[in-house]
Amino acid sequence: MSAPQSDVLSIEIIPVNNEADLGSIAWVTINRPDKLNALNADVMSSLKAMVAWVEATDSVRVVVLTGAQPNEPAEGKRAKPNAFVAGADITEFVGKRSDDIRVMFADNAVEALWNLSKPTIAMVDGFALGGGCEVACSCDVRIASDRSRFGTPEINLGLIPGYGATQRLVGLVGYGKTMEMIMTGEMVSAEEAHRIGLANHVCTPDELHAFTLKMAQTIGSKSSNTLRVGKATIRAALDVGLTEGVAIEAEAFASLFDSKDKEIGVNAFLNRSTPEWEHQ
Ligand code: COA
Repeated sequence: MSAPQSDVLSIEIIPVNNEADLGSIAWVTINRPDKLNALNADVMSSLKAMVAWVEATDSVRVVVLTGAQPNEPAEGKRAKPNAFVAGADITEFVGKRSDDIRVMFADNAVEALWNLSKPTIAMVDGFALGGGCEVACSCDVRIASDRSRFGTPEINLGLIPGYGATQRLVGLVGYGKTMEMIMTGEMVSAEEAHRIGLANHVCTPDELHAFTLKMAQTIGSKSSNTLRVGKATIRAALDVGLTEGVAIEAEAFASLFDSKDKEIGVNAFLNRSTPEWEHQ
C-alpha cells in the first residue's frame, strides 16, 4: 500500500538508517500554510488515512508530524507567520449546531493519532494553537523551535477545546496550568512550554529538523515490538491507578521475555555488538 498523499498532507519516507535496512520514518507535513495549517475536513480525513496507512505498513517505524513553512508572500503582502497548526478551521464552525459537531468530532483524526501503536513526534515550528496544540499533545514527544507558541484560545470563541486538551494537557502540564491555559486562552512561549513539560525539547529553527530527525532515527532503531509494548504500557499510567498500572507493567515486562528481540538485545549487549532486531 503506498503512502496516501493529498493536497493538504504530504508524506516523505526517510530511512531510519542509511547503512542498514531498519525501515523508515514517515515525515508527515500538514500543508495549508496560507491558513496556518488549520485543520479543515480535508486535513482531518487525510490524517486519518495516514494513521491507518502507518498502522498497516510494517516498514514505517516512527511518524514525525509537522506543519508546512509559509509560502513567499505575494508582492506587497505581508508574510504569513510560521505555524505548526493554528487550530481547527474556524470557518467550518460557522452555523454549526451541536448535532453537526458530534458527527464532525466523533472518531476524529486526533484520537486516531493518539491511538496509533507506533511512536509519534510533533515537530513544532510556530503557532500550535487549539486543535494544533491538541495534535501536538496527541503525539508521544514534542520538539519545538524557540519561536513557537502553544495555546488553547478556544475560550475567545466561546468554546472549550474539543480534541482532548482538557484531558491530555492535564497529563502533560498539570491541573493548575491546564486551567490557566484554557481559562485565559493566552499563549505560552516555547521556553515556558519546555519549563512546564509541554515541549520535550526546544531548539533554534535552524537546528529543529536535524534534532527531530536524530530523535526519530534513535527511536526507529529500536525493536518496534518492544516500542509498541512500551507505549501501550506507559499509556496505562493515564487510565488506571498505580497498583493496577504496576501490575500491567509487570505482565508486559514478563511477556517480552518470550520475544526474540529480548534474546537479540541481551546477546548483543553481552557480545558488544549492535542488535539486529527481528521486529525492527
Ligand atoms: N482557522 C481558519 N483560518 C485560520 C485559522 C484557523 N484556526 N488561523 C489562522 N487562519 C487564517 C487567517 O484567517 C488568515 O487567513 P487570510 O490570510 O485568508 O485572511 C491566515 O490564516 C493567516 O492568519 P492571520 O490571522 O492573518 O495571521 P496573524 O499573524 O495576524 O495571527 C494568529 C496569527 C495565530 C494569532 C491568528 O491567526 C489566530 O488567532 N488564529 C486562530 C487561532 C485559534 O483561535 N485557534 C483555535 C481554533 S478552535
